[in-house]
Amino acid sequence: MGAQNDDGYGTQMEGSGSRRLGDQHSFGGNWTLIKLEALEKYLRAFTTALSNQRFTTIYIDAFAGTGRCDITLEGGKTVVDGSVRRALATTPSFDKYCFIELRPKKIAALTALKSEYPDKDIEAIMSDANSALKKLCSQYLWRSERAVLFLDPYGMHVEWATLQAIAKTQAIDVWYLFPYAGLYRQAAKDADALNSEKEAALTRVLGTEQWRRVFYGQKRQPDMFSTGDAEERNADHREMLDFVSHRLRNLFPAVTGPKILYQGGDSRGPSGAPLFALYFAASNPKRRACDLATRIAENILGSL
Ligand SMILES: C[S@@+](CC[C@H](N)C(=O)[O-])C[C@H]1O[C@@H](n2cnc3c(N)ncnc32)[C@H](O)[C@@H]1O
Repeated sequence: MGAQNDDGYGTQMEGSGSRRLGDQHSFGGNWTLIKLEALEKYLRAFTTALSNQRFTTIYIDAFAGTGRCDITLEGGKTVVDGSVRRALATTPSFDKYCFIELRPKKIAALTALKSEYPDKDIEAIMSDANSALKKLCSQYLWRSERAVLFLDPYGMHVEWATLQAIAKTQAIDVWYLFPYAGLYRQAAKDADALNSEKEAALTRVLGTEQWRRVFYGQKRQPDMFSTGDAEERNADHREMLDFVSHRLRNLFPAVTGPKILYQGGDSRGPSGAPLFALYFAASNPKRRACDLATRIAENILGSL
């Protein structure tokens, strides 16, 4: 995968060793292909399912990138269409496209897509994803609109409050690439290594301070320097992810996944560290819509 730094949010950032060419955007590995395949398949199924209904369909990409990804696979570097271009190529088409991105150069690449796709209604918003999404969620009544949102952050950037705003619309289907590695990097094994920044990141992403009680407890094997109340993280990676799944299931009417994406190998033979956990969440509580969305997402996740 591309060069990585930790920005204090368990974030995988483009490093100085990454290559930048035009609208290309250097990051990712095999997991990039898996998440993009899931998204692409769902978008097609979504617009097909709604093609005979009178909803305005909106695709929202909250960490949009540039439209192309320059990824590293075992054979070397390769360029693939990113989420935005895959969404624009979806048939039947969405009625509206909303791309949110923090970086000015990437916004320029996204804005350029308007002339490449003159028949599409594209809005490129330069903003932090959390504030733009909260605004977007309150901008519509969500009676005649239905949306698919892709949350594809490098790390611990999606606030729980943002997920709450999304769930409240009851009209947005979400694909969330949860930063699994970010989570276990922030939740240090030794409780003494937790600082206020890490604690704040965990609380912001999980929406509760309960993680402290669930993840941490008394040291099982205190060393000779430990005091009696020394704490460590007793929850392993999988148990931490179970907590995330539990939180999401309490917020959304239906949650599918997670599909864990690893640093190396492929779906059949993954290798290396688990990096991300791909979830699908439906916010529409209506039984028929929710069941259909979930069934499609389950099929897709099962096929990857
Ligand atoms: C993993 S990349 C997204 C890739 C994209 N989905 C694709 O398939 O091409 C994450 C993107 O989020 C952007 N980003 C980072 N922090 C952000 C924030 N707080 N709000 C919005 N965008 C952000 C980065 O500049 C980067 O382009």
